[in-house]
Amino acid sequence: MSSIVTKTKDLQRIERIGAHSHVHGLGLSDSLEPKASSQGMVGQLDARKAAGVLVRMINEGKIAGRAVLMAGAPGSGKTAIATGIAQSLGPDVPFTSLSASEIFSLEMSKTEALMQAFRRSIGVRIKEESVIIEGEVVEIQIDRSPTSAIAQTGKLTLKTTDMETIYDLGQKMIESLNTEKIVAGDIMSIDKATGKISKLGRSYSRSRDYDATGSTVKFVACPEGELQKRKEIVNTVSLHDIDVVNSRSQGFLALFSGDTGEIKQEVRDQINLKVAEWKEEGKADIVPGVLFIDEVHMLDIECFSFLNRALEDSLSPILIMASNRAVTKIRGTKYMSPHGIPMDLLDRTLIVKTQPYSEEELGEILRIRAEEEDVDLEPQARERLTNIAYDSSLRYAIQLITVGNLIALKRKQTKVALADIEKAYSLFFDEKRSVQYTTEHQSQLMFSEAAASVNL
Ligand SMILES: Nc1ncnc2c1ncn2[C@@H]1O[C@H](COP(=O)(O)OP(=O)(O)OP(=O)(O)O)[C@@H](O)[C@H]1O
Ligand SMILES: [Mg+2]
Repeated sequence: MSSIVTKTKDLQRIERIGAHSHVHGLGLSDSLEPKASSQGMVGQLDARKAAGVLVRMINEGKIAGRAVLMAGAPGSGKTAIATGIAQSLGPDVPFTSLSASEIFSLEMSKTEALMQAFRRSIGVRIKEESVIIEGEVVEIQIDRSPTSAIAQTGKLTLKTTDMETIYDLGQKMIESLNTEKIVAGDIMSIDKATGKISKLGRSYSRSRDYDATGSTVKFVACPEGELQKRKEIVNTVSLHDIDVVNSRSQGFLALFSGDTGEIKQEVRDQINLKVAEWKEEGKADIVPGVLFIDEVHMLDIECFSFLNRALEDSLSPILIMASNRAVTKIRGTKYMSPHGIPMDLLDRTLIVKTQPYSEEELGEILRIRAEEEDVDLEPQARERLTNIAYDSSLRYAIQLITVGNLIALKRKQTKVALADIEKAYSLFFDEKRSVQYTTEHQSQLMFSEAAASVNL
């Protein structure tokens, strides 16, 4: 007889590390003072403080319909700060992030894509009140009919510390009590609207009834006051979710597939009216969130004019944009403008600048990145990486951490030494050396103008 041998493989820790996975917030104190290095964020103090002020205003629900632009050199932490903002927002404040080039798809018009992103960034906090009956079970009495095995009716006695009431039980309630295995001495609650029964635990007063209680038994105190209580349940959904559910051609399943298509303006108008009504009645609050558009210079003039208009709507989120461009052409026109953004939009935008990093700050960011990637750098290796970051770019130096680590592992070393970094540096070019190489070897590369002139 053959036996099956199952080998247990060592489970390797498989983790994906993203470019900003080391960022856990903005690293500010309660009084919004930025700490030199905290929550994965290093330096860039002014921009972080500005972001902190924004987050506070957004969390307090004070502002809507504002635009902010983060402008600065590539790799100066614009996207990292936006990630920090997303993590500092309240739990039900929506944050939508998109890269400007994403909206140019074939499925829907670019303004529709922007409109959906806008409405995804506005939350509607819906309050629902439900009545529940909560108490300790004193007795469950079930009257069995002599002719059938199925219980027909019964009585449930519930008490709080102040009162006791007997409820009549129907067939359905008896079944639910059975499935929840509720017995005398349990604390339970019944949702009056839906009839849903839940077991909250066992009463403390019954804790000595049994010698052996399983470790899963939870003891709770007998409720006080009235048996019937009002409970408020709060749900936050985005305006876009409400749009999709109510758009007849799509239905709610589109929420899961993400295949929402274009949504008719009439649907949106009706929903705006409904939400305004709920707000009047005190049933709902509007929570303006954040829409982050990265690489905003990729938008074209039509999108910019849409943004201008959309920001003036009463239902508008905070728009945060990021761009690394200086004066450049506005897409779709022949005109130049700072950051590739038309003047009328720039005019209503608060601009936050990101500054170049000092060598110490670069060293600290690299240390945090190495830690995030579980890489042990020797001091000299870290120093060399810092120099590389300073001379070429932070992004390039961050990439070399992983490569250096692989080279060290190949030597069966767990610590990355200076030689590993040097090796990585010689294997992979940074942008500067690549440019130098191409200019030196122009004649051997294709489509080079210099080469063409030589051949002529
Ligand atoms: N102040 C910082 N603290 C911690 N990490 C940072 C900081 N600034 C940048 N980084 C990290 O450096 C890398 C490059 O930064 P980031 O992607 O934010 O640059 P960017 O300003 O968005 O550049 P680009 O204009 O090219 O999009 C990222 O991995 C980022 O997480
Ligand atoms: Mg970026």
